[in-house]
Amino acid sequence: MLIDSYGRTATDLRVSLTDRCNLRCSYCMPAEGLDWLPRPELLTDDELVRLIALAVTRLGITAVRFTGGEPLLRRGLPVVIEHVAALRPRPEISLTTNGIGLERLAGPLRAAGLDRVNVSLDTLSAEVFVQLTRRDRLADVLAGLAGAAETGLAPVKVNAVLMRGVNDSEAPALLRFCLARGYQLRFIEQMPLDAQHGWRREQMVTADEILTALRAEFCLTPADPAERGSAPAEKFLVDGGPETVGVIGSVTRPFCGACDRVRLTADGQLRNCLFARDESDLRTPLRAGASDDELAARWERCVAAKLPGHGINEIGFLQPARPMSAIGG
Ligand code: 5AD
Ligand code: SF4
Repeated sequence: MLIDSYGRTATDLRVSLTDRCNLRCSYCMPAEGLDWLPRPELLTDDELVRLIALAVTRLGITAVRFTGGEPLLRRGLPVVIEHVAALRPRPEISLTTNGIGLERLAGPLRAAGLDRVNVSLDTLSAEVFVQLTRRDRLADVLAGLAGAAETGLAPVKVNAVLMRGVNDSEAPALLRFCLARGYQLRFIEQMPLDAQHGWRREQMVTADEILTALRAEFCLTPADPAERGSAPAEKFLVDGGPETVGVIGSVTRPFCGACDRVRLTADGQLRNCLFARDESDLRTPLRAGASDDELAARWERCVAAKLPGHGINEIGFLQPARPMSAIGG
């Protein structure tokens, strides 16, 4: 088991498959992109599968989520999913994607063993999409969402980040769109994880503001908090339910006390928190022929050292060196 010194157990593994992306969301990356991780430093598909298998069969991981960058850019994704789906006990397998290419890949990924997807969608306007992501791909994202739903990758979840003065008027419209299609919408407060260090607290659209905007059109009542568990989203019944909307108040309503996550980067570094300033290198020992026992011990030590919280609201907070696109959501 992966237990930290505050009594939390990590059961949810987030695996970043690449730090590359075909969008350039302004809250994530600069227009010119980043210096991508050099290829030899990336874990191979076999290395990934070995580490995930270790986590699932020995360390108590019960859920595996693939992220990026954009994980659909990784060619080996179906094969990796197939191997992970063959593990026993079989973990739940999900994917966080920007949706580009999902229209074509939803079927093959489902067949390989993928259970669920989270698709990022911040706006319904093609112009605002270009402004936010610097690419004209809204139609691809919408087609990807529809493809996921048709294929039965359910429930399809939608992640939205609101940016002040850009798409912050769209909260009710996004909810209407998702309700009409059976997608579960969650708004995420913008976190200081962008590569260009442009996050400003005053610019962040807060959970309170999101709820106020939604309440102009919908009646929201808190869903049973007992069902929340370690989920970051606070859920609200919309107009009496059963449909819900989630708000992830990462900054103003932190949920670190219930965190059950651990993260593996595409270059084989373990992180016990999105905001961790230290990483544990698994790639070097893996490539030097380390045994499962040695790798498991490293993994346990990494999680044991997890801090109680992200510290964003404390004086002296420092953003991690690695940006969101190289950690994964
Ligand atoms: N703050 C909040 N959410 C972010 N995401 C990417 N960068 C940030 C950030 N700085 C979101 C993406 C995607 C998920 C992986 O995290 O929009 O939905
Ligand atoms: Fe790509 Fe996601 Fe970053 Fe947008 S937020 S640039 S989709 S990695």
